[in-house]
Amino acid sequence: MQKIVVANWKMNSDINLVKQYENNFNGYSNLIVAPPHVYLNQFKLLSTAAQNIHAIESGAFTGEISIHHIKDAGAQFCILGHSERRTYNNETNALVKEKANLCLKHQITPIICIGETLNEYKSQQTLDVLKTQITECLPEQGKFYVAYEPIWAIGTNLTPTLEEIQAFHAFIKTHTSATTPILYGGSVNAENAQNILSINNVDGVLVGGASLKIDAMQSILESIAIKHFTIAPPLLK
Ligand code: PGA
Repeated sequence: MQKIVVANWKMNSDINLVKQYENNFNGYSNLIVAPPHVYLNQFKLLSTAAQNIHAIESGAFTGEISIHHIKDAGAQFCILGHSERRTYNNETNALVKEKANLCLKHQITPIICIGETLNEYKSQQTLDVLKTQITECLPEQGKFYVAYEPIWAIGTNLTPTLEEIQAFHAFIKTHTSATTPILYGGSVNAENAQNILSINNVDGVLVGGASLKIDAMQSILESIAIKHFTIAPPLLK
């Protein structure tokens, strides 16, 4: 399977980056861009992910975005359970699972984030935390991705060792279907992407800060031995 790169812009950047992505990366069929919701339908060539949806299909929820809206806007994927949503919006494992099932019902592939805090990591509770999150967040069946994102590695320039990433991914793989892709996220950049992506059970990376820089993204995409087609439409579309 081709390794995947998910670019999570979070609440950053603007329409110019949309244009730069479309112009520079249109041949990378393994790239999924997660821009702020308002830019989803500006992408004509690249595959997109929403960064979140509401758990309910429609109703009086001023300011929220539904599964139907992201579908209308062309998204094929949706990031769920990102640690920033868990922290700032009090999202629970149960809510993440509810949203994941809603995505599956509407043929959107959820990318479900799990990962431990620094204290949990230091006290060697990572596997216990992952086990709980796997049990409580992941749908029983269906096609979804898992992103292992140690919270202490997000936006900090710190990462687990390659051996740790391999071991934690192996653990997640033993608790998920053999066909579920497991991505790594947390301070992936142009310098470390190649090593992280060379780990056999890392099926791709979820990139935050570095995804805002075209040069860094170019290196990350090039660090996977994939072909760059300049004209062909992405396979994921
Ligand atoms: P980062 O973010 O690459 O800036 O650490 C990753 C993420 O939050 O998904």
